[in-house]
Amino acid sequence: MADTAHQLFEHHVRDMYDAEQKLVRALRRMAKNATNRQLAKGFTAHARTTERQVRRLEQVFKALGRKPRRQPCAGVDGLIEEYSTFVREEKPGDEVLDAFAAEAGLKVEHYEIVAYKGLIDLAKQLGLSNEASLLKETLREEEETAAELEGLSKVLGKALPMDEAPTESENTRSSSWTSALSGA
Ligand SMILES: [Fe+2]
Repeated sequence: MADTAHQLFEHHVRDMYDAEQKLVRALRRMAKNATNRQLAKGFTAHARTTERQVRRLEQVFKALGRKPRRQPCAGVDGLIEEYSTFVREEKPGDEVLDAFAAEAGLKVEHYEIVAYKGLIDLAKQLGLSNEASLLKETLREEEETAAELEGLSKVLGKALPMDEAPTESENTRSSSWTSALSGA
C-alpha cells in the first residue's frame, strides 16, 4: 500500500532502479545494432553513464535506509519493446534503423527526465536533500544525452534516402489528374 508522499517517492525510486538496469542492456544492444559511428559511440557511452546511475540509485536506497528493490517499470518496458518490434517486423535498412534508434533513445531520455524531475520535487518536499542532489546529477546527465540525441536524430532523419522519383508516365498521370480536378 502506498498512501504517503514518502511511499510514493520510494515506489518511484524502485521503478527507476528497474528502468535503469533494463536500459543498460538495451543501450548496449542499440549500440551494437547502430551503423553510424557517432550514434554507436553515444549509446555505448550512455550505457556506462547508466551503470553509474544504477549505483547512484543504490546510494539513494542507502540514504533512505532501504534495501535496493526493483519495481517493474512498464513505461520503459514499452519503449524498449517498441524498438525491438520495429527491428523484428520492419527489418529496417541501416540508415532507417539508425534514425529510428536515435529517436527511440530520445523518447527514453524524455521519459527519464520527467521521472527524475518528479523524484527531485518529492525529495525536496520530504526534506531529503542528499537524495535530491544525487538525483539532480542523474537528471543533468539525462538532459545532456537528450540534447545530443536530439541533434543526431535530426541529422540522421535528414540523411534518409527518399523514395525513387516517379517515372514519366506517373508524372503524366498525376498532372492529368490535377487538371481534371481543376476543371481544365
Ligand atoms: Fe538513465
